[in-house]
Amino acid sequence: MVKIAPSILSADFTNLGSAVQAAEAGGADYIHIDVMDGHFVPNMTVGPLVVAAVRRVTRLPLDVHLMIEAPERYLAEFAESGADILSVHVETCPHLHRTIQQIGELGVKPGVTLNPATPVETLWEILPFVRQVLVMTVDPGFGGQGYIEAMTAKVARLAAMARERGLGPDIEVDGGIDAGTAPVVVGAGATVLVAGKAVFQHQDGVAAGISALRRAAA
Ligand code: DX5
Ligand code: ZN
Repeated sequence: MVKIAPSILSADFTNLGSAVQAAEAGGADYIHIDVMDGHFVPNMTVGPLVVAAVRRVTRLPLDVHLMIEAPERYLAEFAESGADILSVHVETCPHLHRTIQQIGELGVKPGVTLNPATPVETLWEILPFVRQVLVMTVDPGFGGQGYIEAMTAKVARLAAMARERGLGPDIEVDGGIDAGTAPVVVGAGATVLVAGKAVFQHQDGVAAGISALRRAAA
C-alpha cells in the first residue's frame, strides 16, 4: 500500500505537537520533516531540535529530508534526534557512497534525493545501497508549489531502472502532491507520497486531507 508522509512545513508551528498528533490519528504513515539551510535552497526551516521535539509526540517514523550543503556534518545529530529515514540530495554529496554508508552505520534508513533537473541516471551506482529514493516534483525550498508534469515520466524511468536490476527501494515524491496528482505519480510507480499543503491546509482538516490522498492513490 502507498504510504502517506505529511510534511510539517505547511503545519501551524505554534501548534506543531497537535498537528503531528492529528496526522498520526488521521492515518499518516510517516512524518516528513524538511530541513533547509538557506544555501542549498533559498529558505531556512528547522534542525535537529525540532526533529527531537516531533520525536517526543509521535510513534510514526520520522522521514527527514536534508536540503542542506555538506549534510555529512549533521547526520549523527539527526540520528540522535530520532530520525528514522535520512535523505540527502545527490547535488550536495560529492562522496555520496560514503555519506549513504554513514547513515546506515548510524542505524538509520538511507535515502537519496534528486532535484527535478537531475537525471535518474545519476542514481545508477548508488541505487543498491539506498532504501528510498526521493524524486522532487518541484524545485525544493517552499511548500505549495505546482507539480512539474515532466516528473511523471521520470518516476516511471526510475521505477523501471529499479525493477530491471531487481531492486526495490521505496520511491517517494515530494512537491505539489494532492488528490489530483497522487493517482498520476502512483501510476508511474511512486510508493510514498509527501504532502504539505494537501494535508495541513486541507479545508476539512488533517484527517480529511490524508483520506483524500489515500482514496486518490488507491
Ligand atoms: C519542498 C519540500 C516539501 C514541501 C511539499 O521543498 O521538500 O516537502 O513541504 O509541500 P507541498 O505538498 O505543499 O507541495
Ligand atoms: Zn521534503
